[in-house]
Amino acid sequence: MAESRFLIVAVDGGAASGKSSTSRAISERFGLLHVDTGSFYRAVTFKLLELGVAPDDPSAVETALARLRPGTRVEGRSARMEIDGWTPGDEIRSARVNDNVSRFAALPVVRRFLLDYQRGQADVARRHGFEGLVMEGRDIGSVIFPDADLRIFLEASSAARAARRAAEGHVDQIHERDRLDTQRKTAPLVCPVGAVPIDSTHLSLSEVVDRVATLVRSKLGT
Ligand code: CDP
Repeated sequence: MAESRFLIVAVDGGAASGKSSTSRAISERFGLLHVDTGSFYRAVTFKLLELGVAPDDPSAVETALARLRPGTRVEGRSARMEIDGWTPGDEIRSARVNDNVSRFAALPVVRRFLLDYQRGQADVARRHGFEGLVMEGRDIGSVIFPDADLRIFLEASSAARAARRAAEGHVDQIHERDRLDTQRKTAPLVCPVGAVPIDSTHLSLSEVVDRVATLVRSKLGT
């Protein structure tokens, strides 16, 4: 009997481009594990700030990271990072984390720390009986899973993205984060060659999800 295939969907895009809502909906429709890698960078940022480490001191960052033990808990269809038994909550969406996360994320030592952990989410998904995963972030289709079955790049105008974040009630420097994420040397935010760009400025969430779902079905041959 042919083994059923394991599907990997990569969803990248700038801040507040709709990655999380879209990825969650796709995980529901197709029974995929949802992996929000932004929450990993946020959790690591929170932990480093708590330890008093600043992003302009990479060697202190490296020493602190060497002591952190990341694990994964699957809750429903979502992968949640745990660090030394702590499961991050709303604190990782705070203004302080928003202000610092892209600075830590620009450091090669931080990206190295999370590289294998992120790739290892495919094993987590298999162990928990998922038929694949949908992973969202900035470099999923370019660095983490460049051979993903489907790579999506979500875009939206700055005004639309700022309005979405404000509607969520969060204080967020989305333009500054985009600037840092696009300009960093290691794994910058780019639409990788071969990825499918979707501009959601004038689309509703369900229209975006339907477009992605059509692409997923064509990969599955259903
Ligand atoms: O929710 P939002 O799109 O605003 O951001 P996020 O996905 O929670 O990511 C927070 C920050 O983590 C980003 O601004 C990036 O600096 C960093 N990040 C990254 O560098 N690479 C990823 N794969 C995911 C997030």
